[in-house]
Amino acid sequence: MNYKELIGKDAIAQRIAEMGQEISAHYNKVGGDLLVVGLLRGSFIFMADLVRAIDYDHEIDFMTVSSYGNNTTSSGDVKIVMDLNKTIDGKHLLLVEDIVDTGNTFHNVINLLKLRQPASISVATMLNKPSRREKEIPIDFCGFDIPDEFVFGMGLDFEQKLRNLPYIAVKCD
Ligand code: IMP
Repeated sequence: MNYKELIGKDAIAQRIAEMGQEISAHYNKVGGDLLVVGLLRGSFIFMADLVRAIDYDHEIDFMTVSSYGNNTTSSGDVKIVMDLNKTIDGKHLLLVEDIVDTGNTFHNVINLLKLRQPASISVATMLNKPSRREKEIPIDFCGFDIPDEFVFGMGLDFEQKLRNLPYIAVKCD
């Protein structure tokens, strides 16, 4: 399979640094306890870069969810495969995702976590495919809007591989 770069590593690093500043400014204004939650597995590289760009004290945690339905699009329901280790009541949650596509995953995760009464829930995603949205979800911090193409690298997989590419790639002939 041939692939090419869609977003280069310098542009990604630059945008993550800016997002870190936006996030720090927001929580420095709001105050309180911050828990940054990465949705595994796709977010792990972005999450590692993003937390290092955040200048506000915080804890981190991870969660794995899987969607019911077929493999190419997520359906309405999510199942928690691995839950958070930490309690979240009264804390500000920053949910970190690799990509928001239909929005179904985030929509369900947010509804589920709201029941545990955090102080607030915000969303940070590296990539956003607005044209594919089925559920409106608020994206507070967004890296890049991209067209409706299947992308991989920087934590995102192509058939479970190529997560290690240090840039965002797309297939080509
Ligand atoms: P959503 O529920 O449709 O928003 O899907 C979100 C999840 O689908 C992401 O966390 C990814 O795991 C996966 N996904 C969506 N688009 C892509 C893509 O272009 N490449 C790799 N994974 C994707």
